This record gives sequence, structure tokens and C-alpha cells, in this order.
Amino acid sequence: PTDSRIRVAVLTLSDKGSQGQREDESGPYIKKYMEERGYRVTSLDILPDNQKMIEQALINLSDRCENDLILTTGGTGLSLRDVTPEATLKVATRLVPGISEAIRYESMKYTNRAMLSRGASVIRNNTLIINLPGSVKAVKESLDIIIDPLHHGLEILK
Ligand code: MTE
Repeated sequence: PTDSRIRVAVLTLSDKGSQGQREDESGPYIKKYMEERGYRVTSLDILPDNQKMIEQALINLSDRCENDLILTTGGTGLSLRDVTPEATLKVATRLVPGISEAIRYESMKYTNRAMLSRGASVIRNNTLIINLPGSVKAVKESLDIIIDPLHHGLEILK
């Protein structure tokens, strides 16, 4: 049976989460949020903050798993361990800066630390990749900011 729903992969980047030292709440939150809005979430993975591993996962989730959208959470801050944006930019074929600009701009009304998220938004071939910050609170606020125009963008990219 054909399933025309938009395919979404969720990827959590967290050293502690990947070692089981901290429960990942943000990944499952994104999955539930997207499923409630009619998206098909195809995977939910956790990796440590390792740039090469993140690049490989993003390539796999886009090229092989044919996801339309990859939402990452975590690893966007200023810690030297935070490499999610670098991995994302490395696998990009085109940039979509406006999505991350909107997240930071609109998030400033919740916390001025929003400017400390270095998250990127890019396209790799037919897959849109968006970096969200790590906390559940930040994830919720960020998704609410992007969800409406995101749907339109994915329809065009498909
Ligand atoms: N954006 C929103 N909307 N809400 C938040 O609470 N937290 C900020 C920022 N963006 C936040 C936010 C904080 S405190 C940090 S350090 C950065 O995201 C980076 O988060 P990360 O390192 O978990 O990715």
C-alpha cells in the first residue's frame, strides 16, 4: 500500500543520552508532535556529539531512507562538543537560512539565550534538514514557529 505521508526522521544528538546517562525527552516529543500533525515518523535515533557519525547518519537518513525531512535536536550551542551545525552544513547541497533565522528571532521573546543556538537549516538533494536546540522547551517553541510554513516548503520539495 502506498503511503503519501511526509517521511520524517528524528535524530537526537547528546553524549549523555547516547550513553544512557540521561533520558532523551526531546526526540520522543518531536515524534509525537509530528505524528499528531499527520507526518510519518520513520525513525528516532540518538547519537553522541561526534561530527563524523552525525554526517554519516544524515547521509543515510536522506539518501538511503528517503526521508523528506530530518529534524535534529541538540548539539547546537557553544560547547566545543556541539558539532551538529558543522555536520549538517557538511552534507548540505543547498542552504535554507530563513528557517533558522526565524527560529532564533521568534525564540528571543522566550529567552535571549536563543541567540546562542547555532542551528542550521539545509537541503540535501530532496531532503530538508533542520537543527533544533536540545531542550524539550526549546523544541516545542521552535516547532510551533516553523510548522505552518514547513508544510508548504515540503510540498514544493517533494
Ligand atoms: N530556543 C528556544 N525557543 N527556547 C529555549 O529555551 N534555549 C537556548 C537556545 N535556544 C532555547 C532556545 C539555549 S539556553 C541554548 S544553550 C541554545 O539553544 C543551544 O542549545 P543546545 O546546545 O541544546 O542545542
